Amino acid sequence: MPPVNLHQYEQIARDRLPQMVFEYFWGGAEDEVTVRDNRLGWQRLRLRPRVLVDVASRDLSTTVLGQSVAFPVMTAPCAFNALAHPDGELAVARAATACGIIQVVSTAGTHSLEEVAQAAPDGLRWFQLYCYRDRGVTQSLVERAVAAGYRALCLTVDAPLVGRRDRDTNNNFGLPPGMTWKNLESVGLDRMDADGAGSALVKYIAEIWDASLTWEAIEWLRGLSPLPLVVKGILTAEDARRAVDHGVDGIVVSNHGGRQLDGTLPTTEALREVADAVAGRVELFVDGGIRRGSDVLKALALGAKAVLVGRPYLWALATNGQAGVEHMLGLLREELDLCMALSGRPTIGSIDRSLLTSPDA
Ligand code: FNR
Ligand code: LAC
Repeated sequence: MPPVNLHQYEQIARDRLPQMVFEYFWGGAEDEVTVRDNRLGWQRLRLRPRVLVDVASRDLSTTVLGQSVAFPVMTAPCAFNALAHPDGELAVARAATACGIIQVVSTAGTHSLEEVAQAAPDGLRWFQLYCYRDRGVTQSLVERAVAAGYRALCLTVDAPLVGRRDRDTNNNFGLPPGMTWKNLESVGLDRMDADGAGSALVKYIAEIWDASLTWEAIEWLRGLSPLPLVVKGILTAEDARRAVDHGVDGIVVSNHGGRQLDGTLPTTEALREVADAVAGRVELFVDGGIRRGSDVLKALALGAKAVLVGRPYLWALATNGQAGVEHMLGLLREELDLCMALSGRPTIGSIDRSLLTSPDA
């Protein structure tokens, strides 16, 4: 029997993956309070369904930064997909394309951004950017993403350093032989071998990424390419307004799945605050703990144009490669479709804040 929900994919992956890999994927920072809070955030929101609406047919299609997508879900940028399955990012590209949705491809890919593009030439994809101290390295990643047909750049701003992840320290997390940061091969920054002395990721990031990045980088990046620029990792009204003032095209409200600063507000609360501050000026996206169609519905009701899911596609990839990811995304689509019917919202455009109780209710 194939899994009937996303949680079952997690259970299968837990049994299959080596502990080092499962815990790197599953884990969060410090006491993992935010990992739990993200889930609870969605679970605590309450819906106000409407009845006697004709929901005999539903339309889940929408647009994301002007591109048509089949339903409002994207695969989040997650590092090292080949740790889940040898086909890694290539399998995710094919699955996302088959489902008609956008794949956000991480800088930390185990296949190069060009290989990912070639794996599903008709697919829609964004490139997620981490900034290196050597600006030339970052600039060349941007130029390669433009040349390979990526539709947007997604700058992750919540990781100047990597969060405190005790599981990775205990497991001496690092890449096995033959696996590298493929995108950085040409500049010699691709090796992150497990060295038996704590988390190799912590050392890699502390040594090579640019922790001095400020809002100035947004202008610099906007000047480098014609692609729309999305910032990922904003949690407050203040930063959301600032991002809009700096001309970004979209914001991903995210706490990195609880992997960076532990104890932040859950992304449900952050999205409410950011949506109020931004008031429709740029497109909003959200991630963190989205596991059910009803979570997606709630995210759209709060003001997101689409959601990103991270860990679930890694579990599905580990379970059954491309077919697993396609099936997992199909489950989420089916759940959203049914929730739309049961809440009297047959189209994406009919989903609004009135679907939720007020925060103090
Ligand atoms: C991530 N995330 C992440 N984000 C990013 O911008 N670049 C990256 O390379 C990674 N890498 C990464 C690896 C793994 C194993 C995970 C689980 C997550 C964060 C990711 O994009 C997203 O914000 C969260 O995963 C969303 O939360 P859920 O859906 O995993 O709960
Ligand atoms: C992570 C980094 C690589 O969350 O984004 O593991």
